[in-house]
Amino acid sequence: MALGDLEVGQLLCESMVNPVGIDILVPRFSWQLKSVRRGVLQAAYRIMVADTEEKLSQGTDLIWDSGKVQSDESVFCAYEGEQLISRKRYYWRVKVWDQTGAESEWSTVAYWEMGLMQREDWKALWIEPKQEPVVEDSILSLREALQYNEPTDTSILHPCPLLRKSFFIPSNLRKARLYATAHGTYVFQINGQKVGNQELAPEFTSYDRYLQYHTYEVTDLVKKGANALGAILSDGWYAGRIGLSGNSCQYGDRLGLLFQLELEYEDGTQEIIISDHNVKSSFSHILYSDQFIGEKVDARLMKDGWALPDYDDSSWDHVDVAHFDISNLVAHYGEPVRVVEKLPVVQVITTPKGETVVDFGQVMAGRVSMSVTGLAGTEIILEHSEVLDEQGNFLNNIMGRHKDQKDIYILRGGEPETFEPSFTFHGFRYVKVTGYPGIVLPEHFTAIVLSSDMRYTGSFECSDERINRLQQNIVWSQKSNMLSIPMDCPQRERAGWSGDIQVFVPTAAFNMDVHVFLTRWLRNLALEQLPNGEIPNGAPYHKSFRYIDHTLMGKDSSAGWGDAIIIVPWALFQAYGDVQVLEEFYDSMVRWISYIRRTAEDEMPDNYEQMDDEQKERQKYLWNTGYHFGDWLFPSAATPTESAMMTKEVVSTSFFAYSTLLLSKIAAILGRHSDAEEYSVLNGHIRNAFSEEYLNDEGMLSAHFQGAYVLALQFGLVPEMARIKVVEQLVSLIEGNGYRLDTGFVSVPFLLDVLCKYGKREIAYMLLFQTECPSWLYEVERGATTIWESWSAIQPDGKVSSMSFNHYAFGCVGDWLYREIGGLHKEQVGYKKINIQPAVDCGLSYASAKYESRYGTIVSGWSKQGRQFTVEVIIPTNTTGTVMLPSANLENVKESGIPLRETLGFISFQQMNLGVSVLLGSGNYRFTYSLE
Ligand code: BGC
Repeated sequence: MALGDLEVGQLLCESMVNPVGIDILVPRFSWQLKSVRRGVLQAAYRIMVADTEEKLSQGTDLIWDSGKVQSDESVFCAYEGEQLISRKRYYWRVKVWDQTGAESEWSTVAYWEMGLMQREDWKALWIEPKQEPVVEDSILSLREALQYNEPTDTSILHPCPLLRKSFFIPSNLRKARLYATAHGTYVFQINGQKVGNQELAPEFTSYDRYLQYHTYEVTDLVKKGANALGAILSDGWYAGRIGLSGNSCQYGDRLGLLFQLELEYEDGTQEIIISDHNVKSSFSHILYSDQFIGEKVDARLMKDGWALPDYDDSSWDHVDVAHFDISNLVAHYGEPVRVVEKLPVVQVITTPKGETVVDFGQVMAGRVSMSVTGLAGTEIILEHSEVLDEQGNFLNNIMGRHKDQKDIYILRGGEPETFEPSFTFHGFRYVKVTGYPGIVLPEHFTAIVLSSDMRYTGSFECSDERINRLQQNIVWSQKSNMLSIPMDCPQRERAGWSGDIQVFVPTAAFNMDVHVFLTRWLRNLALEQLPNGEIPNGAPYHKSFRYIDHTLMGKDSSAGWGDAIIIVPWALFQAYGDVQVLEEFYDSMVRWISYIRRTAEDEMPDNYEQMDDEQKERQKYLWNTGYHFGDWLFPSAATPTESAMMTKEVVSTSFFAYSTLLLSKIAAILGRHSDAEEYSVLNGHIRNAFSEEYLNDEGMLSAHFQGAYVLALQFGLVPEMARIKVVEQLVSLIEGNGYRLDTGFVSVPFLLDVLCKYGKREIAYMLLFQTECPSWLYEVERGATTIWESWSAIQPDGKVSSMSFNHYAFGCVGDWLYREIGGLHKEQVGYKKINIQPAVDCGLSYASAKYESRYGTIVSGWSKQGRQFTVEVIIPTNTTGTVMLPSANLENVKESGIPLRETLGFISFQQMNLGVSVLLGSGNYRFTYSLE
């Protein structure tokens, strides 16, 4: 029975839209249903896969036909057809039936294309252009790295190599694909035109074990006759100066390239053009390009037409063939880094010191495009920074080795020219311009914003513009720091710190679809796990990252950081309903918990011998040795080290308990029941040991700081009888601090939730609306456009610190805004069931949270005018929801103008003490009522 209104669309293959070049053997499909009717649930689906669109539309000669599958699942439905073949494009479509038997039309056609699945598919050879090896920097300890203030010696940097290969195409092509990767970062051109729109390929991964190749569709770029393939290489993350200590050569000191251009002619014959000794190389006009130092270009040295077929490369050198194992090659997975936005100049400033500074009005990650006309040889210097100092002068807020963020352009002269660096990016809002010929006008500069190009999935807004700015700041910090990997900051370290993303992941998953991006990063984190089970503080965990951690901590992991291996997959499972992500990392999680358990059992604190037997007995459940970051950067600690030292023991044991609890839940979900039982028992022991060791009869913790209470309450470490007292301790600390927070990285995500959960919602609101330092709105009122690393990066007396002004960690309050102010909660993973709870008592007159779940758009919006309430809700097709209408009386609630009691179908309701609870099927609803 076709009712005509049931539609199916938004097809995703492995969470991506029409991915090309994947290496997933069993791809999973998702789709969304649409209907004008309310209360629609999927009852069955059918998927068809074929290797041409024609076969698919005729339904003949199919590769897979699922048949009609009785199921309400419309996300992550696995392919079950024959084995997938390298290079092949597969077309698919889906149709659905709802619970009334109504049948949709077939969806539009989507596709995915396989990459090179077998080692033998690779015919290309690694090649290395003629080059001087990259100069390796001395290793720095943490102290040395922080105190480093030597100027950068750019004379040791080398020009970016150019590579080219010409080839001839005798007849018309049906299809051309370029498979490519590099040691370093690269840009390809075919016949002078840029290949693809990605930036900084092959991006940042643990190269020695996980090096991505990209698949480019280049059919339109290759033409009959003479062709040329060109590439520029730069040091990138592979050989360039990266991380806190700005060290070069983390993965190697020679740049290299691997490519394979596969051609299919109209007559079906095939040809492969590969990287081999016939490729020639020279040097480009990019005198150096380093991600941290910046890029220097001498436009006078441009080799015009170097990537065109007729270019004379007789003076170029032949490349060397290099020998590397290719077992580390993986297909690129996820959204590439792209230019995601362009921003105009807001103002051109002449500072008190007389510097010319362009202000883009927004802190970001990216670079600047500049147009200029002038004499050949004129040198223009662009320096990037996130803040101005107290006087309004340009301030380089990032200290350390190779943190210059300085681009230099030397004019070719004559005609108007445009400069935009190719292989570097900076964290900035302000650009100091030196040497510009003539007057600097706003139209000469554009900011080019770079980010991993993920889909936006959420928005939050409310009646307070400051909170709206906070939300925008969170999104900007996410955008700037999700650039290939989840970074701490886009200037000083740009490192994949595991603690930062662990606290931010629920917020991140509201704002953008981070499923694939974070799964890829988790793969790298898991690859970096040490043989003893330690999950390092970040990934990629390169040599100097490791060295720095060792000089600070004597080991590779910290509580609250390594736990990301459990917390991040758990958050992805919650947001997207993907069980596979739990399965994939399960072994790594188990090994991490085993490591903590062994450490707790084997390492005893210094005062062990003075303990009584009972205390000795419980030491094996306390993670109380070694260095940890603790509740990092909580404001009342004088220094970061102090914040670590004062809280580390309580924080570490809290995370030992939390991760064990999560692992027990994960094991149960995966059907590993004896594991689930084992971790649940272990969690019980840790909880008991925690309260016996750290909690006294007054409900006071040995680390008497806000964050310690927050974690103890959030992670269920406080025995029920003591809870009221513990909550009072937390409340008195907050009161004593003038209703300002004093929480660090790992506790702040739970601060407001804990207060709400334990009946102190009004205090949560006071903290949210607080404008004195430290607080979220303090930053907003100080003009922040992103989230700062430290609450007081600009101090109340106006002093500007040398901190990062773009760290997303403290932006983790975003998740709470969506849930507790917007009222948008999930009741079942992946939002299959939704729970709407408007926070009409928070002091705002309206708020609206919108989220694009895998099932479709969810809206929770509420407004209040005097005693009149409106609650607008959208529940996507194939899901159900519950709405709580606070303080409502059933007799005077209307839905879309009709008294609730008279509404028909898919709605049931109940008068409760707190208001009216309504159960909903899918659809758009508008509830109105007034308070008596
Ligand atoms: C980074 C962090 C990171 C921390 C470890 C800092 O330098 O910027 O965000 O998590 O070190 O404590």
